[in-house]
Amino acid sequence: MPLLYTENDIPDINSLRAKCYDNVNPDEVEPIKRIGVLTSGGDAPGMNAAIRSVVRAGWNAGFEVYGVTRGFHGLWKGEMKELSKRDVSETLQRGGTFLMTARSKTFQTTAGVIKGARMMETYGLDALIVIGGDGSYKGARALARVGMNVIGIPGTIDNDIASTEYTIGYDTSMNTAMEAIDKLRDTASSHERCSVIEVMGRSAGYIALNVGIATGAEVILIPEVPYDFNKDVLRIILDGRNHGKKHYIVIVAEGAGSATEIARQIEEATEIESRPTILGHLQRGGSPTLRDRTTASLMGIQAIDCLLAKRYNRIIIEKDGKISDVDIEQGLEMSKTIPERDIINAKRLG
Ligand code: F6P
Repeated sequence: MPLLYTENDIPDINSLRAKCYDNVNPDEVEPIKRIGVLTSGGDAPGMNAAIRSVVRAGWNAGFEVYGVTRGFHGLWKGEMKELSKRDVSETLQRGGTFLMTARSKTFQTTAGVIKGARMMETYGLDALIVIGGDGSYKGARALARVGMNVIGIPGTIDNDIASTEYTIGYDTSMNTAMEAIDKLRDTASSHERCSVIEVMGRSAGYIALNVGIATGAEVILIPEVPYDFNKDVLRIILDGRNHGKKHYIVIVAEGAGSATEIARQIEEATEIESRPTILGHLQRGGSPTLRDRTTASLMGIQAIDCLLAKRYNRIIIEKDGKISDVDIEQGLEMSKTIPERDIINAKRLG
């Protein structure tokens, strides 16, 4: 995509307006005319649905919508183009993100953020909608702190964003993992083996716990619950064998250990043939489920509603099944962990 400006002729930082909406009468604030949207961090199924929603609801609200490619990296380089409603046709059902994504190191520096803000000014973006996880929200918050208007939409398979109970991509990734594990159970059963499966989630165990429940795993290891290998893994497998069990499924969240190492230890201690499988990036692809398509669509609309109401620097959340928004600074201060009852329930099924 050709750049409208080179690095040398982008406007000076002094031309950036310091916009602070605290204590300002919203009626006196210029309404939004042009907005940008980008996806950042790890991709997640449903990101396309969120972009589509922002574009369509944005256009219907009278905004011009620009798609920024490759996340903050693209913003920094001024890689963007106007998106029409037609440009997002046939994207709803597609996995990945057609805007592409990146983990931008440059944007973790003040110079990078300032340059991103300059680019927003250069292209006349009155607001930027950032679809991504916590790392992406930090980039958005940095832009807000230098006077830009931002809105965050939670997109990550990990479901580890504290402010929201649900993140776009979580349901699809769990269904993908569940289908893969069902298949692994077939072959584990035929060979009377132990199948140790590592699922994604970074340092959170949401995917592992729920997929473990859904596939009837004998053992689920998550970073939120410290485990003792002899008591929490070996004893369960050996008890199962004593009761006539012939194959076993062990799910390990990537933040809790390595499937390769755990499989090796199980085989060494029990002589039960054990095979590790790392599901890896398989879990990030595929057509989004209904849950992800609808949530992404509703969250995109909520982002546009924030802009229409001149409610800036917000992140979109789902709480008790309802979509709303919270202040980005407050949202990034929140913490969440897996509810104790979910862990107890998983154990009760063992
Ligand atoms: O945050 C999403 C996620 O898929 C995590 O579950 C995983 O730890 C990480 O991204 C992998 O990142 P990358 O695609 O950069 O290897």
